[in-house]
Amino acid sequence: MRKLFVTGGAGFIGSAFVRLLLDELPACEIVNFDALTYAGNPDNLAGLDPARHRFVRGDICDRAAVLGALEADTDALFNFAAESHVDRSIHSADEFLRTNVLGTQVLLDAARSLGARRFVQVSTDEVMGSLPERDDAFFTEDSPFAPNSPYSASKAAAEHLVRAAHHTHGVDAVVTRCGNNYGPRQFPEKFLPLMLANAMNDEPIPVYGDGQNVRDWIYVEDHCRAILLAAERGRAGAVYNVGARNERRNLEVAESVLDALGKPRSLLRFVKDRPGHDRRYAIDPGLAERELGWRPRETWQSGLKKTIEWYAANGEWLARARGGAYREFYERQYGEN
Ligand code: NAD
Ligand code: DAU
Repeated sequence: MRKLFVTGGAGFIGSAFVRLLLDELPACEIVNFDALTYAGNPDNLAGLDPARHRFVRGDICDRAAVLGALEADTDALFNFAAESHVDRSIHSADEFLRTNVLGTQVLLDAARSLGARRFVQVSTDEVMGSLPERDDAFFTEDSPFAPNSPYSASKAAAEHLVRAAHHTHGVDAVVTRCGNNYGPRQFPEKFLPLMLANAMNDEPIPVYGDGQNVRDWIYVEDHCRAILLAAERGRAGAVYNVGARNERRNLEVAESVLDALGKPRSLLRFVKDRPGHDRRYAIDPGLAERELGWRPRETWQSGLKKTIEWYAANGEWLARARGGAYREFYERQYGEN
């Protein structure tokens, strides 16, 4: 693969993916197409090789802009661009439908009309809803769709559009569904960087409900490697679940962060629960392991250590991300607690 088009490449996972591409594919040229919403951060692109990485500011819902930026002989289009935060989708779903659903269709149409060789849709385990708290219950690629939030419903709709484009128009498409990512450059609205930022400033850590919800955590670079392998080796039309077999309860995650930073448990605050809060996610990554030869490289301990070290060393990035509009969101989300 040489010519690559990445959407949402100024966000958390997209920027990690662009870095991975530049490191692992010496001959590749990347167009990074991103609208720079509140979650898109030019700081995330600092230091990238301008000879192989070209940033284009644009909205995936803007057909003309997409057609203008996508080159005719693109080898693969990777769609990371999305509204990605569940709590924001509960406040208002409009942008989620626009970007995640309409935007995906615009990209599929553009990929088809300009002959992009492969379309990779970066999806989420949340399209499969919530699992019972049983040791033998896992998400597989055959699990039924059961999205519970406006965010996950919009991502499920996007997956349906990708499937339909493959089935009806023969678009060569692959879908990956991953669990909760953590690592450098994650916007501090998400639980892990929010905890890190608050704990480092001796501010309280809001834990929703009873703190016993389970998430399946994966280091962002491991997710990115799986996406690259899916593009290189995945079957057209296939879905691959991606997870590091790393289920943790939220309270356990919060306590690990406090312990690693040497901060007291008294910073924990139980606050009102997220409406419709999914209880448990747990991914069976067997298909990706067998068909793609993928394995995570980081353990929870090594990934968390790298993440904490990155945030500790990048206080300026964090301060900028927590400024301005973030404060308004924080007040609206946590103010009443
Ligand atoms: P993010 O919110 O950090 O970044 C999203 C990026 O998309 C931002 O750079 C933003 O500017 C851009 N964007 C938003 N709307 C756009 C539009 N209309 N046009 C162009 N660009 C637009 O998100 P993330 O956590 O990096 O997630 C990336 C993708 O991975 C999303 O599709 C998300 O659903 C999926 N995913 C995320 C996780 C996770 O744990 N974060 C897990 C599984 C899947
Ligand atoms: O599973 C994949 C999904 O993981 C991705 O598709 C989403 O884009 C990503 O945001 C993430 O969704 P979650 O809702 O699981 O992530 P979040 O970081 O918002 O919350 C993780 C858990 O922590 C969840 O059970 C809610 C809880 N939580 C979250 C916040 C922000 C708290 O207890 N307190 C908080 O302040």
